Amino acid sequence: MDVFEGKSWISGQGLVNTCIGVDEGKITAVKKILKGDNHTKFEGIILPSAFDMHVHFRDPGYPHKEDWKTGSECAAAGGVTAVVDMPNTNPFTSDLETFNDKVSTASSKSVVDFGVGVNVEKDLTEQTWFDTIPAAFWKLYPYGISSAEYFSYAKEVLDKTSKPLVIHGEHPDHMHNEPLNELSDHTQNRLIAEPECLASMPSSPYLHVAHLSTLEGLNRMPKLASSEVCPHHLLLNLDNCHSLDCKVDPPLRTKKDNSGLYDAFREGKIPILSSDHAPHTIEEKRSDNPPSGLPGVETMIPLMLNEVSEGRLELSRLVNAMSEAPAERLGLDRGRISEGMPADLIMIDMKNSKPIDLDKLHSKSNWTPFEDWPAIFPSQVYRRGELIAESGEIRQEGGGQNLF
Ligand code: NCD
Ligand code: ZN
Repeated sequence: MDVFEGKSWISGQGLVNTCIGVDEGKITAVKKILKGDNHTKFEGIILPSAFDMHVHFRDPGYPHKEDWKTGSECAAAGGVTAVVDMPNTNPFTSDLETFNDKVSTASSKSVVDFGVGVNVEKDLTEQTWFDTIPAAFWKLYPYGISSAEYFSYAKEVLDKTSKPLVIHGEHPDHMHNEPLNELSDHTQNRLIAEPECLASMPSSPYLHVAHLSTLEGLNRMPKLASSEVCPHHLLLNLDNCHSLDCKVDPPLRTKKDNSGLYDAFREGKIPILSSDHAPHTIEEKRSDNPPSGLPGVETMIPLMLNEVSEGRLELSRLVNAMSEAPAERLGLDRGRISEGMPADLIMIDMKNSKPIDLDKLHSKSNWTPFEDWPAIFPSQVYRRGELIAESGEIRQEGGGQNLF
């Protein structure tokens, strides 16, 4: 048995001086005193690692932007030991074959554990594999689709599913794409796309709204649905971010939206934190027709830990939003430091706040909207008891498993 000792986050209790016993990747004991074969004492705090249920690792299809190796290394270095990958790869993940191919690629290249989302397309619910395929969830996009189709697909899946339906909640009729002179033009193009979409969505406990971005959208959330928010919609706005590089869907908004979403996040009304890691190269971002999307899986937890250290967020809320809530939302029993859980742990020195250094990040996209922002990176990251990252260096090749 390996033993990790330190001030550890125990759900319901908070930070407690304790020993965590780990055998074959699982937490087998949480006790004040434990004797094991290898005993490691940490000076900082020990938290459950994060589970990011919204990443785009671009594999298959866009190896110049990211792949399962580099994407998962970003995750690992940033304290994220499990991710769910979105289906908008090339080919889209939309049937048994593309699903199995992605699981097999991820199994051979990913250093973090993972799940795979399946795209909602015509007749999805008629497929023989609907609801037996081990997908993390269904994902519905508002691109290249009429609003009639978008809402009827949503309703059909919600009526028949036993998995979450994750929606990109912008109304297909309001996805205006007039050319951009400045970043605020993108916001202006999509001003009411989110509230209009959410107001028309049926309420269902199976519905999950990705990347909430507006106060008005928050107010129009279908009652029984859950939601997530990304660091860029909490921390970036049109006042502190002007670069066209920061074109993202849904767009960046105002300070008022940031603070309204942040309040809802603090209260747990928005339960889940996700990154929507959507890497594109800087050359693509600076082309005549820049794609939407920001990298973020590596900086998400470090930025939010800095928020905690500066007193703007409770640690209990961060742990819930990054570890417990996403796991629970996807029906997985994990994300806590307690007996029987996978030993997915991060060790953190809360005093170690440093400006984000682009040269130390792992994404192929090779840029970040958060350069020089203060952040607290984990000093050690353990996936099922194995050290996978230490001070930003990757310590393992692959080894990630499908969690679904
Ligand atoms: C996503 C991407 O690049 O895959 N971009 C984004 O701005 N969020 C697509 C998407 O989720 O809309
Ligand atoms: Zn996305």
